Amino acid sequence: MTSFLTPFTFANGVRVENRLAVAPMTTSQSHADGAVSEAEIAWLERLARDGYGMVITCAAAVSKSSIAFERQMSLGEDRFLPGLRTLAAALKLHRALAIVQLCHGGSRAIPALTGRPAHAPSRYELPAVPGFVPPLAFAEAEIEQIVRDHADAAARAHEAGFAGVELHGANGYLHTQFLSTMTNLRADAWGGSLENRARFSREVVRAIRRLVPATFVVGFRMTFEGMGFDTGLDLDENVRVMNWLAEDGIDYGHVSSMDVRAKSAKYAGENLFQRVRDGVERALPLVAAGGVRSAEDVRFAMARGADLVAIARAAIGNADVPAKLGRGETLRAMPYALDDLRELQVGDELVRYLRDTWPISTLNVVAKEADAASATQGA
Ligand SMILES: Cc1cc2nc3c(=O)[nH]c(=O)nc-3n(C[C@H](O)[C@H](O)[C@H](O)COP(=O)(O)O)c2cc1C
Repeated sequence: MTSFLTPFTFANGVRVENRLAVAPMTTSQSHADGAVSEAEIAWLERLARDGYGMVITCAAAVSKSSIAFERQMSLGEDRFLPGLRTLAAALKLHRALAIVQLCHGGSRAIPALTGRPAHAPSRYELPAVPGFVPPLAFAEAEIEQIVRDHADAAARAHEAGFAGVELHGANGYLHTQFLSTMTNLRADAWGGSLENRARFSREVVRAIRRLVPATFVVGFRMTFEGMGFDTGLDLDENVRVMNWLAEDGIDYGHVSSMDVRAKSAKYAGENLFQRVRDGVERALPLVAAGGVRSAEDVRFAMARGADLVAIARAAIGNADVPAKLGRGETLRAMPYALDDLRELQVGDELVRYLRDTWPISTLNVVAKEADAASATQGA
């Protein structure tokens, strides 16, 4: 099998130094206005220095009305470009492919930060959740504006020197809300059939592709199905959507999961990642993520067709993960000691975020109580 320390080349010719990526991680440590902070740059630079081929940033806002986290990095305005340039240059210096994750919170946007009530594809109720405030439905013109906001944010990422963007289509944020039959009850062109529910994601990808060159990498991270909960997401439908997005010009798909070894809920007994890999066009590279802690875990995913393997939690508390896994070393296990984290550029804000919001047991569930509780803070 191909070694995970060998380079990978996307179809557009962009090369990644090795097959290990830092998975997107919200850190809540940028400035309150969305400008990237020194702490965030130091944190991401440390990960690039660790030797990952690709570093994906936190979920970044595409506009003021999209904000889903306190102190969230933003690509929503040109005034953020100087900080973003510094960040992109720092990652490039260490030869990491620098990818910004772009996110719109939809129903999970925070009214106190956006200055408006939360909006979603449609109004929906969650009777089981006490105090749940139903989101308002977006007007069609607002959806078109959000598509443009994504394209403008991607163009800013390009201008700042990033190698690409990843669209956050996982964990219950706006793309998921459009795809899900539970949160998208629209009767117009943006809801109903799978074609209509996928329209938003497809329009976003196409709009980005019109503004950036072919050598700018565009990825799409997706929750293919819930973890045993009803989220209105269907594995086979989402595989179809991923193939449509490939036609629209994405360079990779990212299979969001808490465990690369997880079984599909729909196809009991079958590995979820493998099922996705079998359904998605072979030409589209796939990133696997979830529970990767050892070289064996990386090889498990690659044996099932992962082109890149992303690591989140183990990357926080371990320096130089690629080299360590290459040598077959065992990584330090969670929970991590505060002193160790400080040495690893994990700042106080990030420690607070990790402490207050993790573990988030139902990352991709929009319907359940646990999720509603974390709706304004979840990853
Ligand atoms: C602190 C933290 C923040 C996260 N934030 C994001 C995020 O902003 N976007 C996203 O797509 N996933 C996010 N995730 C999920 C991870 O990318 C990853 O899919 C998940 O943690 C499983 O991988 P792991 O077992 O290597 O941690 C976050 C995870 C953690 C631990």
